[in-house]
Amino acid sequence: MNILTEKNILLGITGSIAAYKAADITSRLKKEGCNVKVVMTKSSELFITETTLESLSGNKVISEDEGSNTLTNFTHLDLAKWADVILIAPCTANFMNKLANGHGDGLLSTICLAFTKSLFIAPAMNPDMWNNKVTQASIEKLNDADIKIIGPNYGSHACGDIGYGRMTHPEEIIEKIKEQSKTSQLSGSRILITAGPTREPIDPVRFMSNYSSGKMGYAIAMAAKVKGASVELISGPVTLNPIADIRTTYVETSSEMYEAVKEKVSDFDIFISTAAIADYKPANYSDIKYKKNKNNITIEFTRGIDILETISKKHKNLFTVGFAAETNSLKENSEQKLAKKNLDIIVGNIANHELKLGFESDYNEVIMLSNTHSQKISHDKKSNIANKILDFIAIEYSNKLQLVKKNVK
Ligand SMILES: Cc1cc2nc3c(=O)[nH]c(=O)nc-3n(C[C@H](O)[C@H](O)[C@H](O)COP(=O)(O)O)c2cc1C
Repeated sequence: MNILTEKNILLGITGSIAAYKAADITSRLKKEGCNVKVVMTKSSELFITETTLESLSGNKVISEDEGSNTLTNFTHLDLAKWADVILIAPCTANFMNKLANGHGDGLLSTICLAFTKSLFIAPAMNPDMWNNKVTQASIEKLNDADIKIIGPNYGSHACGDIGYGRMTHPEEIIEKIKEQSKTSQLSGSRILITAGPTREPIDPVRFMSNYSSGKMGYAIAMAAKVKGASVELISGPVTLNPIADIRTTYVETSSEMYEAVKEKVSDFDIFISTAAIADYKPANYSDIKYKKNKNNITIEFTRGIDILETISKKHKNLFTVGFAAETNSLKENSEQKLAKKNLDIIVGNIANHELKLGFESDYNEVIMLSNTHSQKISHDKKSNIANKILDFIAIEYSNKLQLVKKNVK
């Protein structure tokens, strides 16, 4: 069982010398457990036979040949609806340029026009065709249209030329599709995020708090929304603007933060706790302002509730992500928190106000740990880091869902 199991994959083959590799792609997709349908352009038939692809895919190949008795008036729409993923491999320069310009002059290009899900192409062409200005301009248009381009690789070609244009190896193409399918796993998921500091009142005019600005949590909320997740935010007192279309509950104290999380969390799949929640709060709140007539005062602090640990231990099916702001031994401390709090992921960062690291800054650098993987993200803008954190979450979340499905079966 993996992310592609039982997925409907439409493999489009175009007229490149690399078309023979489509046989390998078809059999690999079948091994992954996919349902595969093959659509061939007319030119591709010069390079590989329908019979080969029919035997490997277990389905009748759909060719663009006029008069083919497999076609109906709605074949293009039916196939666009059927497919979860379309992969065009190999993809000729001609087909790339057609796709970039929205042409629908054949069955395969028309299916692509009507297709609304994940479309991948694996270009294969001579280096001069790849470097051609028109082909290069198409790359930008394809990126804008969210058509994912895999490769091409650098190397020697059948014609003797050396350069970019070799189709990526079938195994690598499938790995890329798997990776992408995992990162798109967040689309439609429900994510609850906490952000910012808390304030623990000491008397009517004073509180204890920390330097957290909420920027990391807000950046994650924004990026998760762009990835298609349904996001809700619980925010401590920050000076950031609210994010359009993200429902935000504002709280002040750690107790209010806990109440808000407790009330909402069961409606969510993923809980990301970026908030810097006070570990300690004054044992006794003074209704009257402390006067300055004493040289010293002593205020007793008691341990507050660990919201993340409490929630993760209570909601076993919830995917939980915590943040560890440390001043030393980042990896060791993060590992300990991951285990102790029973989290799926911990994101550790060095927090040092004086060095402008972590808190308040627009930049950060982090280490992400799950029970099986770790990844460092070096110094970067928080908005970029947010995207990378979400990609890591998506992969781990997808792995957890696969595991749950497997155990249910
Ligand atoms: C022997 C031969 C090999 C070809 N190899 C490629 C190739 O690797 N990449 C490419 O972009 N075009 C290649 N072409 C040109 C395409 O087949 C041609 O542009 C065709 O119209 C593409 O049609 P399609 O994109 O509808 O499949 C080749 C042509 C021939 C005759």
